[in-house]
Amino acid sequence: MWDYTDKVKEHFLNPRNVGEITDADAVGEVGSLACGDALKLFIKLDENKERIVDAKFQTFGCGSAIASSSALTEMVKGKTLDEALEITNQQIADFLGGLPEEKMHCSVMGQEALEAAIAKYRGVEAPAHGHGHDHVETEGELVCKCFGLTDVFLKKVIASNKLHTAEQVTHFTKAGGACGGCIPKIKELIAEVMGEEKKAAAEKPSKLTNLRKMQLIQETLENEVRPQLWADGGDLELIDIDGSTVQVAFRKACAGCASSGYTAKFVEQKLRELVSSDITVQEVQG
Ligand code: FES
Repeated sequence: MWDYTDKVKEHFLNPRNVGEITDADAVGEVGSLACGDALKLFIKLDENKERIVDAKFQTFGCGSAIASSSALTEMVKGKTLDEALEITNQQIADFLGGLPEEKMHCSVMGQEALEAAIAKYRGVEAPAHGHGHDHVETEGELVCKCFGLTDVFLKKVIASNKLHTAEQVTHFTKAGGACGGCIPKIKELIAEVMGEEKKAAAEKPSKLTNLRKMQLIQETLENEVRPQLWADGGDLELIDIDGSTVQVAFRKACAGCASSGYTAKFVEQKLRELVSSDITVQEVQG
């Protein structure tokens, strides 16, 4: 039995934004009934065609596919198309408080549908990968013939989700989950990605300059923290950075919230993970 978070259950039982937008600006479709999952995503832009004002979905899939699609439609609202493209499948899963590893491919499907919709709107070819079987594979080498997945796509999922085993890759993408003929190649891709990561780590400067640290703090707050707070109706503002102490003020639903201590801890954890392990976050009234 899978272990689902309350938020997954809630979005499964009461999915947001189910349906169709008849005058949608962008529509992305991925999946096929043969794979057992399919998702159609509709996006409506504001009159200046800058920000997403509405998003709806139709899906054929399990509870996690419904919850992931529901989360995605909530997450994209208010974003520009470029900002929406920054959403990773891991963020979709995080929005739901996590997904069982065996169900992570549902969040990947959401990310693909979003990429497909935006590519179609922009008149460019959607990134070649995935459950879509409806666009021609052009980027990369076909690795998993059963599910039509390329090395470019698989490497991206391996890297962004830090996958270390072929089994995990199957859980996230389905690759290797049918005849299994591609598993040796999947293992090679994992080794390749791990090699690239080690090289990048070796090249990374061991000590951040103050300027770079401040930039990274700002980027992390903008790209990793605030979108998650927006999803719950909250927000925060960066007030000051003094060495390794980061002062933030909570806004909207987060302001005066009884759980703001937990939120500050969450912000601190993200900054420690992505910027520097010595960061301390202080909540101030700004
Ligand atoms: S080729 Fe990948 S499962 Fe068959």
